[in-house]
Amino acid sequence: MNNNQPIGLFDSGVGGLTVANAIAKAMPNERLIYFGDTAHLPYGDKSADLIKGYAENITKFLLQNNCKAVVIACNTASSVAFEVVQDICADNAIAFNVIDPVVKKIVDQEYHKVGIIGTLGTIGSNVYYDKIKTAKPSIRAYSLATPLLAPMIESGFVHGQISELVIENYLVNDILEEIEAIVLGCTHYPLIKKQIEQLYLRLNKSVEVLATNEIAADFVKKVLEEKGLAATQKSTEPHHFFVSDYTASFEQTTRLFYGAEVKLERVSL
Ligand code: DGL
Repeated sequence: MNNNQPIGLFDSGVGGLTVANAIAKAMPNERLIYFGDTAHLPYGDKSADLIKGYAENITKFLLQNNCKAVVIACNTASSVAFEVVQDICADNAIAFNVIDPVVKKIVDQEYHKVGIIGTLGTIGSNVYYDKIKTAKPSIRAYSLATPLLAPMIESGFVHGQISELVIENYLVNDILEEIEAIVLGCTHYPLIKKQIEQLYLRLNKSVEVLATNEIAADFVKKVLEEKGLAATQKSTEPHHFFVSDYTASFEQTTRLFYGAEVKLERVSL
């Protein structure tokens, strides 16, 4: 491994571009190779075994592309396929998920009661809960599946009455009473971070809203720097954004998640 190699990332689709964007901002010298598994999305309601198989093929593809790190940008895949990705990376690349950095932050901030929202797959896996409890058993963690949020955001309902109503309907929930922080455990949710903060303001509640993309990006940066693997000069080669199925609408949606439209290249694994 050396610091000139690119960072690989993958997700079920283009939502993981929120993580790619956060990494590009935190580490502007790095070259990124992104893979969106658009042929198989959504991962949120798929079985763990199926997602593990997809993750295996994608990780091999990223290693063939000489990546020094493989970041599972997807919360659902991070929940069920991290060990698979770690095993394939072995000593050839560093494997990252988007969950461990958030759990570390929760423990470091000494929160007592936190909420987690995510897809059915992420919440059903109990991974956030288990990892938080293992790290610090006294923290009370409450999880809520919010399956409508990802398709809502993907369809462009980010501002306005519809999204406000859906968000409020999910978050004004007894199990999330008196939480000090809420984890946005899905690639898509950074796009509604402001709306969630505004809801808590309206309700006069002080709740820290934790976006996994930014926390994960800071973590990847720290680890790569510690290991002497962070790029010290801006790469002259461009980022690449691969997808397993191409449509013009996927390409347009990249604007939403990456902040700018990017060119998608189709590749079948
Ligand atoms: N990327 C997924 C996640 O972060 C959300 C979309 C999907 O269900 O595939 O959990």
